[in-house]
Amino acid sequence: VRLLVTGGSGLLGSDLIPVAQARGHEVIAPSSTDFDVTNPAAAAQLGAGELGRFDWVINLAGYTNVDAAETHVQEATELNVIAPGYLGQACSMLGARFLHISTDYVFGGIGHGPYSEDDEVSPVQKYGQTKEEGERSALANGSSIVARVAWLFGKTKRCFPVGMVEACREGKELKIVTDQRGTPSYTPEASRMLLDLIQAEPEPGIYHVAGPVGVSRMEYAEIVRQAYFKATGITPAPLIPVLSSEFFTAAVRPADSVLKTDKVLRYTQAHMPLPDAMDALLVELLGS
Ligand SMILES: NC(=O)c1ccc[n+]([C@@H]2O[C@H](COP(=O)([O-])OP(=O)(O)OC[C@H]3O[C@@H](n4cnc5c(N)ncnc54)[C@H](OP(=O)(O)O)[C@@H]3O)[C@@H](O)[C@H]2O)c1
Repeated sequence: VRLLVTGGSGLLGSDLIPVAQARGHEVIAPSSTDFDVTNPAAAAQLGAGELGRFDWVINLAGYTNVDAAETHVQEATELNVIAPGYLGQACSMLGARFLHISTDYVFGGIGHGPYSEDDEVSPVQKYGQTKEEGERSALANGSSIVARVAWLFGKTKRCFPVGMVEACREGKELKIVTDQRGTPSYTPEASRMLLDLIQAEPEPGIYHVAGPVGVSRMEYAEIVRQAYFKATGITPAPLIPVLSSEFFTAAVRPADSVLKTDKVLRYTQAHMPLPDAMDALLVELLGS
């Protein structure tokens, strides 16, 4: 299978590309300078076949700084709303299918998790609003699929467990919020699930591609602490529980954006258990 991957240098792309290559897929992953997804001329070249023929275009590029999106709405809109529209159109011209990545942060304002693909979206911050509009831009191409991923963690970029491991090493006590729930997802596992999904040539539409269990931020942090102890024999400093209201961030986080994954599990095996994924990350970070 020939894949064009945008945003390949990011947290998810750094694992998705090697996983795809190990399956024998041919992967072209231009940098953001070589292929700026917000540039309509770049999308037109793709659509005209000037970059080659592809079976799938996978868009991992996005404006992902949730707090900065509150004040950089124009930039977030270009990347998260307008670009998936350009790419979807390019795919129609090229005869390729389009996989666009969205987020659990399209939820949170109405109801509570676990949310299914059919539940009403209700983003509570600008980032989620732009991602939700971006889903519609991507789905304007009638054969697109949108995969909502959530609470990604992997070795290549700063993410919650990587920051916590640093704190554990320094013996720092950490304040962790107790009133946010999500679905932590290990990037090699999310990559495997996404690639299984596209290899199955699924029906167009939205799919939730996430970890096996919904947890609070505090439960998630405890899993990292336990994995750290298992990997090093060192007991990390205890965690200090706090409420989101005590912890200022520019953007509000959903209280509960846990995703239900039944639909995607028709096409792929479930994500490995979260403690096993955390052990695997610690091996990647600290060595065995
Ligand atoms: N991380 C999470 O926990 C999480 C949770 C839910 C959903 N998601 C979604 O998952 C997707 C991947 O997220 P991620 O965490 O892997 O992102 P990331 O690490 O922030 O990487 C973003 C990627 O987008 C690229 N990019 C930025 N502007 C671009 C442009 N104008 N043209 C082309 N590429 C551009 C970046 O390239 P440069 O490095 O060259 O700038 C980078 O490769 C995003 O759609 C995000 O919204 C992420």
